[in-house]
Amino acid sequence: MLELQMTKQNSHEKRPLLLEIKEICKSFVSKKSVVKAVDRVSFNIHKGETYALVGESGCGKTTTGRMILRLLDVDKGQILFEGIPISTLTKRQLRKKRHNIQIIFQNPYGSLNPRMKISTLLAEAISSRAENPSHIRAEAERLLQSVGLGKENLDKYPHEFSGGQRQRICIARAIATNPKLIICDEPVSALDLLVQAQILSLLQKLQKEYGFSYLFISHDLSVVRYMSDRIGVMCNGRIVEEGTRDEIFENPQHSYTRLLFASLPTLKNADAFAAADIQEDTEIFQKVLRDVKERSNKKIYVSQTHYLLADQ
Ligand SMILES: Nc1ncnc2c1ncn2[C@@H]1O[C@H](COP(=O)(O)OP(=O)(O)O)[C@@H](O)[C@H]1O
Ligand SMILES: [Mg+2]
Repeated sequence: MLELQMTKQNSHEKRPLLLEIKEICKSFVSKKSVVKAVDRVSFNIHKGETYALVGESGCGKTTTGRMILRLLDVDKGQILFEGIPISTLTKRQLRKKRHNIQIIFQNPYGSLNPRMKISTLLAEAISSRAENPSHIRAEAERLLQSVGLGKENLDKYPHEFSGGQRQRICIARAIATNPKLIICDEPVSALDLLVQAQILSLLQKLQKEYGFSYLFISHDLSVVRYMSDRIGVMCNGRIVEEGTRDEIFENPQHSYTRLLFASLPTLKNADAFAAADIQEDTEIFQKVLRDVKERSNKKIYVSQTHYLLADQ
């Protein structure tokens, strides 16, 4: 077991770093209150790796993704992409680099312009690589094929497709720019179970082919288990535990991670945590949430790759 974990650890460490997130913070201030949406969050993503951010709705996952895309500025902390702090890029430099990071959203319909044909939607993305215009249509055909759709679909509009097919189109558009990182923000949450499985396996196939990294954002543990190499468990704006997929699933340490598993009855190991003492679920849950807010930044390491946030 230990040997297996060591092999996994080493395989991650050997890959070069793509993204470094260092202690980023983001608060939203309204007249009535201040919401600390992201609070001292740090993690790295290596090349070709899938890092999952998992946690309940409202814990700060999307806000983290938006800061990486620089759709939002960080209040504090730093984000390095291939060693360069993205906050130092000018608008022009950012435009040039933009194709390196793409996003796939939960709602594929909302992210496709309904008035554009698929050929136009893809051409827009392909042309960001400044290719010869005559190659663009052929490239669009190739992209559609790689996401499992025929070239006859190029002249259709988004409303002519099912939800799963539309998500395939969004994926084709994301890979069109040859990105190094794709942020998948709840990419299958709006789809039927069978379609979810098809999209997830497509995402895995494409990663093998193209070698990009994923930041995979999801509240769904079974999806995360299938997709991730490493996992950051997020609660109330903080990462409360991080480890390889096996470390998190086989040896969850933080009370919040255990509560997440306990709320997932289909998982084998859930039984261990769904014992009587979690009957007062909501009360315990509220306490864990309060505790997390007050926690310091001290980490307790379970292994080289596995830590949890300390109580004090
Ligand atoms: N633009 C915004 N203005 C005010 N509050 C926001 C904004 N975006 C997110 N929030 C708040 O920040 C917290 C984290 O939100 P979000 O990152 O969307 O969580 P998640 O993606 O994990 O569901 C929530 O409390 C949410 O209400
Ligand atoms: Mg979200």
